[in-house]
Amino acid sequence: MQVACSILSIVEKKVDCKQKVDALNDTNCDYLHLDIMDGKFVDMKTFPDQDMLNLVKDIKKPFDIHIMVEDIGKYLDIYKVLHPTYLTFHYEVAGDPSTWIQTLKQNGIGAGIAIKPKTPVSVLLPYLNELNLILVMSVEPGKGGQTFLDSSVAKLEQLKQLRDENGYHYQIEVDGGINENMIDRVKDADIVVSGSFVTNADNYQKQIDLLRI
Ligand code: DX5
Ligand code: ZN
Repeated sequence: MQVACSILSIVEKKVDCKQKVDALNDTNCDYLHLDIMDGKFVDMKTFPDQDMLNLVKDIKKPFDIHIMVEDIGKYLDIYKVLHPTYLTFHYEVAGDPSTWIQTLKQNGIGAGIAIKPKTPVSVLLPYLNELNLILVMSVEPGKGGQTFLDSSVAKLEQLKQLRDENGYHYQIEVDGGINENMIDRVKDADIVVSGSFVTNADNYQKQIDLLRI
């Protein structure tokens, strides 16, 4: 299981952010998961973008960027400078997802799409063959430290089955409320995102080890 560490809980606390974010370089996490919020698609707004870019400027891990925003093009332009492995936008505000998928690929960025807890996998069927990553939200997007929603488990299984049957190539990622207690239930995912479980502890690596199954 690959682990992407979200820095949202660090950012929310606003204390020693740079030092805590940089400490993730010393772990074996696979990605740094960067949550970007615009105060429109979700209530919360993350730091001003230049501050966010400064905060992660010394990160050596590959970036996995999750934009919870209405204006996908604006944030793609801002965050492409980080050369993320994946940039994931939300289906619910995408209009025609294929346009964004193509734009991301033209920029050399893996194209990811996210679905909120109430959005079914079926809406993604026309795009599955073009996508590099599918992010299944296991909490309502908008803040860290929420409780995992079980409805995501069946979606992971469905996405895995669709990939097996059709030879698709996307990675399956699950995001929100992940800790050691439900890691067995999300075994159909390839990547788990974990924020508060890792970064609210003193020893990040120890927490990450608990998620490796
Ligand atoms: C929620 C974010 C998640 C979340 C992960 O809107 O997309 O990445 O912050 O943090 P935890 O693990 O605390 O739920
Ligand atoms: Zn996220």
